[in-house]
Amino acid sequence: MASDLAERASAVLEIDLSGIAANWRLLAALVKPAGCAAVVKADAYGLGAPQVSAALAAAGCGLFFVATLDEGIALRDVVPASCEIAVLNGPLPGSTNEFVLHRLVPVLNEPGQIADWVEIAARRGRLSAILHVDTGMARLGLTMQEFERLAEGLSQQNAVRWRSLISHLACADQPAHPLNDLQRTRFASACRHFGGLPASLAASSGIFLGCGFHFDFVRPGAALYGINPQPGTPNPMRQVVRLKGRILQVREVDRGESVGYGAAHVMDHPGRLATVAIGYADGWLRSLSHRGSGWLGGKRLPLLGRVSMDLVVFDVSAAEPSLARPGGFIELLDDDYGVDSAAADAGTIGYEILTALGRRCRRVYCGVLNQC
Ligand SMILES: Cc1ncc(COP(=O)(O)O)c(C=O)c1O
Repeated sequence: MASDLAERASAVLEIDLSGIAANWRLLAALVKPAGCAAVVKADAYGLGAPQVSAALAAAGCGLFFVATLDEGIALRDVVPASCEIAVLNGPLPGSTNEFVLHRLVPVLNEPGQIADWVEIAARRGRLSAILHVDTGMARLGLTMQEFERLAEGLSQQNAVRWRSLISHLACADQPAHPLNDLQRTRFASACRHFGGLPASLAASSGIFLGCGFHFDFVRPGAALYGINPQPGTPNPMRQVVRLKGRILQVREVDRGESVGYGAAHVMDHPGRLATVAIGYADGWLRSLSHRGSGWLGGKRLPLLGRVSMDLVVFDVSAAEPSLARPGGFIELLDDDYGVDSAAADAGTIGYEILTALGRRCRRVYCGVLNQC
């Protein structure tokens, strides 16, 4: 069934679950004796939270972070009951009962969330929660002032069973940025208010800042999915996705002919063009217009003109004609031209390339659960 669907798919996204598990094991080994959780929010960065989380649980991961309550509820039936699921955005007003019902651990970010959770915990018995302190990002988490005001009372109350204290680094992908050390110092001082509570500061890039940033456990997302946690240096992570788009039509064009909307590209040589069934509606970003690349038989194929909603055009003059034929595929992401390369061409980050890939890209899993 899955392969029938792949056969008629316009674009196929192959996801290597054993590669994701291998990336998790590599990070887990790197941070020992600290623990290693996994961030699977946004449908595991677009790769499929159920499949990815099952593979990671099988690899030994016992703590998963999602962003929203709905993501947490969906994951509860997928990972073993012994796994903890933490919800980074915390409870919206009125949703605390759902957290209890589905055994989700909220990350409490601001005084109102804390008050709501303390109140329900006092009624329902001891309930777990994670406390988030903002050490320099001004996004989510108690400000340092709020934390200092509330910490003593929170550490002494009995209703909530604090599972951990977390914070998030703003500039971990820039190792020399002074905010890294400042956040670490602030976080270490916050931890002293909650003696003995497991602490977590680092996500993917923070892991590579060194063991001083590992505390008790780390929370990688991007690196699991092959995104380079240390931009500008060789990527230690395995590439885990391949994306290919279906060729719909091949045509010969003359010098001077224009291509696509706005006639924005004009051929400066006669050539062969292939129209491929992927576009910005599939997350093949419009900013790849004039800049993106496809690959066929090891040859780079320039993307010509503008990306449209469902289609892009590649110059396949350099490709073997028997390969560049309707029904065949052009490779859009592979081991050599990975998410970070596509991101550089699109003027964005690998995170956006992955999470933008739409549902029309047929997901096919290989490794732990299925074979591609
Ligand atoms: C609080 C928190 N922890 C961990 C992560 C995972 O970060 P990364 O994907 O860079 O590893 C995120 C991602 O946005 C986050 O917001």
